[in-house]
Amino acid sequence: MIRQMSRWASALGASGWAMAAALTMGAPAIAQDNATLHADRPGPLVDRHIFSQFAEHLGYGIYGGIWVGPKSSIPNIHGYRKDVVEALRALHVPLVRWPGGCFADEYHWRDGIGAGRPTRINTHWGGVTEPNSFGTHEFMDFAELIGAETYVAGNVGSDAPSALEEWVQYMTAPEGTLAQERARNGRKQPWTLSYVGIGNELWGCGGNMRADDAAGVTRRYATFVKAPYGVKIQKIASGANGADTNWTEVMMREAGRQIDGIGLHYYTVPTGAKGRGSATDFTETDYARTMAKTWKMEELLTKHSAIMDKYDPARRVNLAVDEWGIWTDVEPGTNSGFLYQQNSLRDALLAAVNINIFVHHAERVRMTNIAQMVNVLQAMILTDGPKMVLTPTYHVFDLYRPFQDGTALPLDLPPTWYNREEWTAPAVTGSAVHGKDGAVHVALVNIDPAKAHHLDIALTGMAAAQVTGRILTAARVQDVNDFAAPARVVPAAFTGAALHDGRLSVDLPAKALVVRELR
Ligand code: AHR
Repeated sequence: MIRQMSRWASALGASGWAMAAALTMGAPAIAQDNATLHADRPGPLVDRHIFSQFAEHLGYGIYGGIWVGPKSSIPNIHGYRKDVVEALRALHVPLVRWPGGCFADEYHWRDGIGAGRPTRINTHWGGVTEPNSFGTHEFMDFAELIGAETYVAGNVGSDAPSALEEWVQYMTAPEGTLAQERARNGRKQPWTLSYVGIGNELWGCGGNMRADDAAGVTRRYATFVKAPYGVKIQKIASGANGADTNWTEVMMREAGRQIDGIGLHYYTVPTGAKGRGSATDFTETDYARTMAKTWKMEELLTKHSAIMDKYDPARRVNLAVDEWGIWTDVEPGTNSGFLYQQNSLRDALLAAVNINIFVHHAERVRMTNIAQMVNVLQAMILTDGPKMVLTPTYHVFDLYRPFQDGTALPLDLPPTWYNREEWTAPAVTGSAVHGKDGAVHVALVNIDPAKAHHLDIALTGMAAAQVTGRILTAARVQDVNDFAAPARVVPAAFTGAALHDGRLSVDLPAKALVVRELR
């Protein structure tokens, strides 16, 4: 139904959006919506990598956020912040992408190994010095520490194919000169490297390439990413900027056989009167515009997937949304190159909407990386010296944890629209899985800031005896967790769901994410 809604949306065009908006006017305070959960029609695997993260050498994303060094007075495990490591372990982060971003195509991996590391300038992000004290060993060991797999973006823009070839060997080779060098630097056993990015944003900071040139470069560099015998490393091409479907077309046509995935970067930029819009000070019209823009992800995935289907009907190649999230103005008084922004209930609901979209495209979308993990853009965690706070977005990823590697179940929801001025998006979106734990998990998000929805969901192919749930909401969509009030937006037990006659009824409050477990 979600897919049906997006077809509606694109088929109806602007006047259709207006009509949908008009339909919701004068609706009752609590809408009655009938829906169906088809437990008898299992769909694709919801790859756990959909819940992956991105950590770049940017602002306090790495230094201060993850790495403080072993001599720091901030409690640490061999240099990694103890509080951050514990929070990320609890989240079951499946995969981390590193070292960028734009930083990746200027990063020379040898700068970050061994003793006597050089200091460079981080030209993209604030022009600050990059000490290189967090390098390959520190990243790969960090991933092991939090129980995540690794996705390393190679330097295609300003380094030779041999540099990427040798970096991959340094990390993964069981023997040989590079393996010996790795052992001398403290790591005998090869690490597991799951994904390699063939550059980043080759259309922009990765080299300002045209699509044809980028496809040629991708073929060439991907050739030299060699996994040890019997090991698989997935190669991800630098993908399109939002709606640039020509990029996907050319990359799939010219380099589709050399890669295992193609990226897609799409940020939700609220764009207020000035700049990108404040993270915390926004009106309802700003809110509606932001939600309408985030809903565009559905259309983007539909369009890019359709192109990929032409070249890869078996869906071997993964559409990896390896950068997404809300991008607002930085917090007042902070370095504009550090991309440090607060994180509100709005951002949490937006994350949930995107996750629901990814689940509905799970047959093609098998990895996404929210930008970014700590202290940058839509972060899971914010730190300030020794202090740490979990953002509302952290709690969304926590609530969706049972979705990792579940089996998608179709959830038909009737169209419900939230609109404000010319901005419209579905009010209620959802997704469901048959989890690895044997339970059925249903996520519903209502972005309408004022109107609750009552859903009466028919359950086909399952007999549930028990329902439990958790809810994430707050008094205002602008509410945040900060160091003074770290628990303003946190999950609570949800009691507004009941089972009766093979149906699940849910009183879904305004501006809320609810995740239920059925057994
Ligand atoms: O995430 C911040 C930046 O956004 C990344 O470095 C770049 O890839 C994108 O433009």
